[in-house]
Amino acid sequence: MITFSKISDISNFVTKQREDGKTIGFVPTMGALHQGHLDLMLRAKQENDILVVSIFVNPIQFNNPEDLEKYPRDLVADIELLEDIGCDILFVPSVTEMYPKKVSKEYSFGPLETVMEGASRPGHFNGVAIVVSKLFNITLPHKAYFGEKDFQQLAIISKLVEMDKIPVEIIPCPTIREVDGLAMSSRNKRLTNEERAIAPFIYKMLKFAKKTSSTTSPDKLKQQIITMFNDRYEFDLEYFEFADDKELQPINSWNSSPGIIAFVVVKLGKVRLIDNIRII
Ligand code: PAJ
Repeated sequence: MITFSKISDISNFVTKQREDGKTIGFVPTMGALHQGHLDLMLRAKQENDILVVSIFVNPIQFNNPEDLEKYPRDLVADIELLEDIGCDILFVPSVTEMYPKKVSKEYSFGPLETVMEGASRPGHFNGVAIVVSKLFNITLPHKAYFGEKDFQQLAIISKLVEMDKIPVEIIPCPTIREVDGLAMSSRNKRLTNEERAIAPFIYKMLKFAKKTSSTTSPDKLKQQIITMFNDRYEFDLEYFEFADDKELQPINSWNSSPGIIAFVVVKLGKVRLIDNIRII
């Protein structure tokens, strides 16, 4: 694996690879890698000649300074995992390399950015879009891989690529879970043992939503699930929402859209956990 930290170095490298007719598969990450990340990478490796991974904890997408400060970082372990899966290129820039000047770009993603993560984390998707657009520009991928765990992020990136006519194919990848159902996340490392033991309740609620959707209206089911979360004092529910799978707008009937997803964000102790499940 070749590791680059300078934009000009990796740019020269990928440009040469493209000139030689090689295809590039790209997986952007913030590190603290787990099997969810590795699945994206293995798929990218299978479908392209060269696998490029970036690790960059992007400060401008954190709206909570404590979340940024406490975000898990373990580059040594990450490099070992990347070597094991046969990653070709790792890009690990510094903050000043990525942002030599203050960034002021303001994207507008319409209704997509006014709901759920867009509403709860002001500026978050703008920060994600700025960094992903920049990383695409640097790594020049043919295909880029994103997890459905962050479904709204995936929708935002697809919209970004469409709006800015970026020549990259976005490949959605399914959510990878622990055996007890908890969606894998770098933030899971911050859970205490007690919190980790009860965290699978979140996926249980999502599965309950899916199962019960055939007999209960969305509004009634949503209220039921909110009550079940409220009955567990350890969980601080931020939102639970049924929304369509395109514009991610709340729905009030199972006939509202051919594709409907249940979205949830819960705080468990100090850790904010996000998950979703497809209902139809
Ligand atoms: P990060 O949270 O490190 O996630 C990197 C990629 O891995 C994202 O596409 C995310 O959806 C995917 N991923 C994380 N957990 C997953 C799981 N359990 N199953 C499947 N995929 C999973 O998302 C980011 O970083 C950043 O916002 C980034 C896109 C890198 C921009 O900074």
